[in-house]
Amino acid sequence: MEKIMIGPMPYMSVLPTVLVGVNVDGKPNYMTAAWATVASMVPPMVCVAINKARYTAKGIDENGTFSLNVPSLKQVIPTDHCGLVSGKQEDKSGVFQSFYGKLKTAPLAEECPVNIECRLFQSVDCGSHILRIGEVVEIHVDKSCMTDGKPDITKVNPIIYAQLTYFSVGKPFAKAFSEGKKYRKE
Ligand SMILES: Cc1cc2nc3c(=O)[nH]c(=O)nc-3n(C[C@H](O)[C@H](O)[C@H](O)COP(=O)(O)O)c2cc1C
Repeated sequence: MEKIMIGPMPYMSVLPTVLVGVNVDGKPNYMTAAWATVASMVPPMVCVAINKARYTAKGIDENGTFSLNVPSLKQVIPTDHCGLVSGKQEDKSGVFQSFYGKLKTAPLAEECPVNIECRLFQSVDCGSHILRIGEVVEIHVDKSCMTDGKPDITKVNPIIYAQLTYFSVGKPFAKAFSEGKKYRKE
């Protein structure tokens, strides 16, 4: 396989699209984020890289809480809007209908099928972005998007982000933690 060096950049093949919900001055604000992932299994933690200049950063510092909301394909327009416009310039509190869960200061977007409530665990200053690690306090899932007590990806229909483009999830291809059992060293 011939390789070409493309230089250092914060590359990941595919990323999720989530909405980071915070209260700023007591008002909900939602910010689109793709640089989000899992940080720990026990205790359950997730993390998201947030630029220091974002209005969202102010909300996290104010309350020590935030939410990650998983939009489905049908929310692509308001989701992209929240990534184009800052709460500094425009009030985004009405883009989604907000409700509150166990953490009274982390707004959750009603229209998103999955809402993850997070208590800030640690902020790691990485440069332009601060990695915000949050302990998961509760997860709210739209009842119609559940199968066997868990969120079902085929029903949630999340938005995948890659190459300045939104993608939908494709067809299942192989079973994880299983396919590798067929491996035989040549
Ligand atoms: C698809 C997409 C993904 C984004 N991912 C991130 C991200 O992971 N971290 C970040 O700081 N900004 C990200 N942004 C940019 C912010 O969403 C954007 O600057 C937004 O206006 C900030 O809102 P706020 O100032 O109200 O917090 C993304 C934008 C889009 C459209």
